[in-house]
Amino acid sequence: MKKKPLTIGLFGLGVVGSGLLEVLKDSGYPDAVIRKICVKTPGKTRAVPQELLTFNPSDILDDPSIDTVVETINGSDDAFDIVSRAMRQGKNVVTANKKMLAGNFELLLNLQEATGVSLLYESAACGSIPIVRTLEQHFGTEPLEQLSGIFNGTSNYILSRMFDGNLDFDTALRQAQQAGFAEEDPASDIDGLDAKYKLILLTAHSHGMILSPDQVPHFGIRHLRPEDIRFARDRGLRIKLLPVCRRTGPGRLAVYVIPGLVGDADELFRVDDEFNGVLLQSDYSGAQFLRGRGAGGRPTGSALLSDLLSLQQGYRYAYQKHRMNGSTVLDDQYKLRIYARAPSEIPLQALPFPSPENITRDGNTYVIESEVTLSHLGRQARWLQENEVFVMRML
Ligand code: HSE
Repeated sequence: MKKKPLTIGLFGLGVVGSGLLEVLKDSGYPDAVIRKICVKTPGKTRAVPQELLTFNPSDILDDPSIDTVVETINGSDDAFDIVSRAMRQGKNVVTANKKMLAGNFELLLNLQEATGVSLLYESAACGSIPIVRTLEQHFGTEPLEQLSGIFNGTSNYILSRMFDGNLDFDTALRQAQQAGFAEEDPASDIDGLDAKYKLILLTAHSHGMILSPDQVPHFGIRHLRPEDIRFARDRGLRIKLLPVCRRTGPGRLAVYVIPGLVGDADELFRVDDEFNGVLLQSDYSGAQFLRGRGAGGRPTGSALLSDLLSLQQGYRYAYQKHRMNGSTVLDDQYKLRIYARAPSEIPLQALPFPSPENITRDGNTYVIESEVTLSHLGRQARWLQENEVFVMRML
């Protein structure tokens, strides 16, 4: 039986919203009709018919002829408002907003239960890689040992250009911004937050645990210097920003984001620029690897388009892993061997690492290695960030 086309209210017309319009037009998909587009800033030139535009969210949220909301705005509080209101009005929602989702996961799960509407977010994690649905449907019951990878295009672009193009950090970041990969506030990309939000979304589907951002330690690449690149290069290694969710025992997970050294044999070694990669280690099928563009208008638009098709087919996430593994807990005693490079003004004794080893000095910085628990790393994260210490996981 032919289903009726989706009638869509779109929020946001930045890189992602415009990307969706582009792929919708390009694909000729007949079953998605854009009824209204809500934007924030008046007076901008926009390549859409004027009569589609509104500045008032209620023109979409209170319009009973609109059955689907697509949310692609920047702010997470406003986005939560829009998404929760739309759901309460009985509208299905597709969103690309990982920060909003990760910060309100429990609430949004309950809202899906209560309203019966579908909330889909393939585009919110790893851009064009169909990872949410792969975890949700294909691995819905198969236990996974580990989910890890490269989930942030901007930081991966910066790292790639610093390794291969010999660009400095600021120039590489500027290029990522110009290409539309970076967040409005790129601190989220370079401090590891964006990768953490995506890790939280994927952990809900891979291992069934619903986490909030303050439970997951994160480190980024803000304080990376040429000395760190040299350290990796001299050993034939590369540095990647690595989100990890690892089963450390029955019902126990270590979940964290940290830059790490990666060797030539690792699939992630050659995932460069804005590309993302997802590595899965599952109990029955073994290792799997997905790679694709993690940022940019058309790749993200492609994931939104696919969610729209799924909605039209009546799809909802089942959260099977969450139903099965509701009692999983975090293992914050999991240990990592880390490398830390600190400015020489910081006395070695002030560095919050027990028994530093292999201390080496290089110009006006020094490097130590140490074995630390996730709990310790999490507690020291703010101090390390404020004191410009670069931390990464050793191989
Ligand atoms: N700023 C994000 C990134 C965009 O660089 O990966 C895609 O989520």
